[in-house]
Amino acid sequence: MVGASVRVKGLTKRYGDVVAVECVSLSVERGAFVTLLGPSGSGKTTTLMMLAGFVVPTAGEIHIDDRLVTLDPPYKRDLGMVFQNYALFPHMTAFDNVAFPLRMRKVPRREIAERVERGLELVRLPGLGHRFPKQLSGGQQQRVALARTLVFNPRVLLMDEPLGALDKKLRQQMQLEIRHLHEQLGITVIYVTHDQEEALVMSDEIVVMRNGRIEQIGTPRAVYDEPRNNFVADFIGETNVLDGTIIKAEHSRYRVRTSAQVEVWCAGEGGLDPGRPVTMIIRPERARFVQSAESDNCLPARVEEVVFVGELIRYLLRLPSGEAIVLKCPNDSRTPDHAAGDRVLVRIDPEDIRVLPPLHSQPKEDT
Ligand SMILES: Nc1ncnc2c1ncn2[C@@H]1O[C@H](COP(=O)(O)OP(=O)(O)OP(=O)(O)O)[C@@H](O)[C@H]1O
Ligand SMILES: [Mg+2]
Repeated sequence: MVGASVRVKGLTKRYGDVVAVECVSLSVERGAFVTLLGPSGSGKTTTLMMLAGFVVPTAGEIHIDDRLVTLDPPYKRDLGMVFQNYALFPHMTAFDNVAFPLRMRKVPRREIAERVERGLELVRLPGLGHRFPKQLSGGQQQRVALARTLVFNPRVLLMDEPLGALDKKLRQQMQLEIRHLHEQLGITVIYVTHDQEEALVMSDEIVVMRNGRIEQIGTPRAVYDEPRNNFVADFIGETNVLDGTIIKAEHSRYRVRTSAQVEVWCAGEGGLDPGRPVTMIIRPERARFVQSAESDNCLPARVEEVVFVGELIRYLLRLPSGEAIVLKCPNDSRTPDHAAGDRVLVRIDPEDIRVLPPLHSQPKEDT
């Protein structure tokens, strides 16, 4: 079994006045694990349904390897699909659920038995074939649904929020299992989730969607560390957003005056001029407490709230400008023991402050 590449160009779906997906272009390499990530209604399912052949695009093209499949029916596309609600037949055993589509296609009995056993083994359910869905946990049911798809040796596996119905612990375990299965089989996976953590853990590449459009495509690291705009920064992980004005621009770094009237150095792509209002994006784990203003890039603040989260401590601070800033510090002996009301100094490395044009002036990007 080996994965196919998937190329999508200008893919669009309109329902009357509703634009569900607008001009999505995307290239997925053979054997890659790519995740469509976005809030509810951003067009993830519609995109997947067009890839699968269940929804006819209004415009655009889909290639699987070098074959144009835009108007091909689902069964000609060599794809498997797994949904959130496992859609198992309740009156059939796990074995029969997996065997059902093979029987429909008149696969010989002997071969069915072999393929079903192998499928159940792949999803780590050997020996449970005789159980009915109600005798299986949510995670086990989802594995049966996965096995039912894998018995066809699809070259591309489409998954739409397959773990959405599971509790957090089981979800995390299944995330790793699906990853391992992907590595083991070498198939291409296009995965849909609105859970940013899930996308970061599982994917080679993340496609961030909003309002039917692609906001950014990149590795988990790239979309986390170098978000292209506030939406991506805010959607992927927790983010502090502060206002400021550029007072000096050097190549790829800026001196910015914050609303609290303190100046800091920031990183950012070129092209922003002095005098320009900007937003600064700071990840909560990249800021830290310092004793005195020993160096540049410190902000004075007052501690408003301290929350113990186990392996880390989360501080809500208030800047003199009234803006809030969150800090996440490891729960170790180096983190000072601050309490609500304390006056503190926070230092952020220039490369950990990303400067972007303010949200309302960010152009809509064509992809
Ligand atoms: N059959 C349809 N008729 C009209 N509008 C539709 C139809 N299907 C989807 N839409 C609209 O298209 C947009 C995208 O829907 P889609 O289901 O692709 O979003 P999603 O990203 O999968 O969201 P969720 O995370 O909630 O599953 C939504 O605004 C939705 O209301
Ligand atoms: Mg959906």
